[in-house]
Amino acid sequence: MSSVFEKVESCYNQIADKVSFKPKVALVLGSGLGSLAETIDVVDTVNYGDIDGFPVSTVDGHTGRFVFGNINKVPVVIMQGRVHYYEGYDIDDVVLPIRVMKKLGAEILFLTNSAGGVNTMYRPGDFMMIADHIGSFMPSPLRGENNDEWGKRFPSLDNIYDTHLCDCIRNAARACNVPLREGVYVQMKGPMYETAAEVKMCQVLGGDAVGMSTAVEAIAGRHMGMKVCGLSCITNMACGISKTPLNHMEVTEVGEKMSPTFKNIVVKAVENMAVEETPIASDETDIPLFNFAPVEDVSGAIIDDM
Ligand code: HPA
Repeated sequence: MSSVFEKVESCYNQIADKVSFKPKVALVLGSGLGSLAETIDVVDTVNYGDIDGFPVSTVDGHTGRFVFGNINKVPVVIMQGRVHYYEGYDIDDVVLPIRVMKKLGAEILFLTNSAGGVNTMYRPGDFMMIADHIGSFMPSPLRGENNDEWGKRFPSLDNIYDTHLCDCIRNAARACNVPLREGVYVQMKGPMYETAAEVKMCQVLGGDAVGMSTAVEAIAGRHMGMKVCGLSCITNMACGISKTPLNHMEVTEVGEKMSPTFKNIVVKAVENMAVEETPIASDETDIPLFNFAPVEDVSGAIIDDM
């Protein structure tokens, strides 16, 4: 048995010794979006630093603890802060918390993040449901010996963002009267923001938003049989689209500004997830939720009013 399995097992055992609570949903909160965890009905918390061997986030805006509790009676475990590959952790450590939350009982993985808008129709403050991702720039979290107890050696990533959970997010945004984008998230290694040429590459590849997390976590969750979904807060336009150079402060500030709306969507979406399958009535499925007015011809990469 490799050290990866032993480490997951050890972290799981330490948490299970402290907390007897079986979550249904595992919710990962991105930069500037962590305050949601303080507003739920909290049952228990465990600081990452108190779990021997657990990777601890070093990034501003990432608190670093598990919050166990209920969101409208749905049992959840919230990661208030995640760890990123750019912090220097091996990819196995980056996805270790996901594996641990699955072992704690979570069946659903709800990933959230702050992201840069690559699609020129997007604007800072928009929300994007993750319809699919491009994770090819990252090392695979499944590299190395496979643990057959966790999942298959060659898992399919078809429909990795679960259709029903996507409906739960769509319905939640609609109920909150918040326009919702749907797009492809591209994960980059970071910590540097992309060059303008890399952002163009993301556009050519079919990306709509770019960030430094999420895809590898989605893969690890899917491998273990979790149902996965994701929501991005577009905190800035990516390099070359925005006229001003990016900085981390801007990202967290917009995340914080949007966090009440973000919280409303997430809470409603989690509530929807408690109901097994609630497909949108078929006559509604083709109707766009909101019509975003095109601001610029799609071919024009530079947006003038930013
Ligand atoms: N690039 C990468 N990651 C990000 C960005 C970005 O523009 N914004 C927020 N996270």
